Amino acid sequence: MTNVAVIGTGYVGLVTGVVLSEIGHTVTCIDIDEKKVEMMKQGKSPIYEPGLDELLVKNISKNRLYFTTNHKEAFANSEIVLIAVGTPQSESGAADLQYIKQAAKDIAHNVTNDTVVVVKSTVPIGTNDLVENIIQENLVANVKVDVVSNPEFLREGHAIHDTFHGDRIAIGAESKEAGDKVEELFAPLNVPIVRTNRRSAEMIKYAANAFLAVKISYINQIANLCEQLGADVDAVADGIGMDHRIGRAFLNAGLGYGGSCFPKDTEALAYLARENEVDLSIVEAAILANHRQSEMFTKKIIDKFQGNIEGKTLAILGVAFKPNTDDIREAPSLKIISSLLKQGAKVKVFDPVVKDLGYINPSIEYCDSVSDCITDVDATLLVTEWQEFIDCDWEALIKYPKVPLLLDGRNALSIERLSIFGWDIDRIGIVPKLK
Ligand code: UDX
Repeated sequence: MTNVAVIGTGYVGLVTGVVLSEIGHTVTCIDIDEKKVEMMKQGKSPIYEPGLDELLVKNISKNRLYFTTNHKEAFANSEIVLIAVGTPQSESGAADLQYIKQAAKDIAHNVTNDTVVVVKSTVPIGTNDLVENIIQENLVANVKVDVVSNPEFLREGHAIHDTFHGDRIAIGAESKEAGDKVEELFAPLNVPIVRTNRRSAEMIKYAANAFLAVKISYINQIANLCEQLGADVDAVADGIGMDHRIGRAFLNAGLGYGGSCFPKDTEALAYLARENEVDLSIVEAAILANHRQSEMFTKKIIDKFQGNIEGKTLAILGVAFKPNTDDIREAPSLKIISSLLKQGAKVKVFDPVVKDLGYINPSIEYCDSVSDCITDVDATLLVTEWQEFIDCDWEALIKYPKVPLLLDGRNALSIERLSIFGWDIDRIGIVPKLK
């Protein structure tokens, strides 16, 4: 078993650290935020992620999982150091590498053993080379350091499951020995491994995320066409998804993708293409289509009120960018709520986990339940498909709103069932009547 240090305790760093301790390694996670470190030492996760707290508590008690703000302490016995810091989007669309560069310097200044540095953060192609250069230029001790690319593919809300049951682990190494060491680290997970060089591993991550983003934007545009032509996008997705070359996953039409990955990774890849004068218009188009998708939904609501929603009260069910997370980064809900408020509507919000949108607008009314949220409203908008909303007793809920108009932005509810209860329900990519 290996001694591992992890720099950064966001989704990727914390989940990977916890899972590596669960499979028997000794892991020390480093974060600069003292409050966060104290919280994690007590076995409390700073993020909402199903299953994480239990594993945190278990592995701390087994003395396999530690937290610190001190790099020297964390690297004292480590053979492998994982970099899992953020690479946020900068104004140009490019990934901002300041935290990666800092992590490389911290490693160079503090390692005292031969070390394999594993870059887990999503980074532009060539960044592992940069990390290696920074480390070599700043290295204090006389030790050998290799840099290996090992991008992460976990989904928020399924992060623990995805780490144990991933489709693949990509390892990009320039040295066979260093690549083997990383392969050994993950061996107990029994996940298929793809070995390649560093730049290819870096590209695998961007190309995978961009492909999925293109798939979502594609089905969303097909949905919009279905809506005009009287076809049903869910049936179309089922029909094309049965072709194993296409596959049904990521063909759920809706309000477009959000979150901390797809929006920033597609932008970063498009930026790389522009910089290198390579045509990547397919990804540019997916980005544009994604922006338009939530705007179309807002327009749909406004059209229901003959172009004027001033003074109307609208219920928003779900604000997290997807179910099972408390993350609202790039969530379609934010754009939709802003736009509705701008047009003079009153907005009531309920999300099972997110209780505050912070900056958006003090006039938003936060509610404690679905029934509270939809009471006396002119329309209800399902924006995040939490299971709790799907399982609601919609028959009992019909008595709460002023108008039983329900716009399902995620195609999660059954038109047939809810119509029987009296709901006037509309979905994405399905229109009951032909033009
Ligand atoms: C994604 C990738 O799946 C993961 O491999 C990568 O490491 C990080 O980015 P995540 O952002 O957690 O993970 O969410 P994911 O479940 O992939 O969903 C992304 C977005 O796409 C969400 O906004 C979701 O609502 C949307 N989506 C997904 C659709 O609109 N339709 C679909 O069919 C699938």
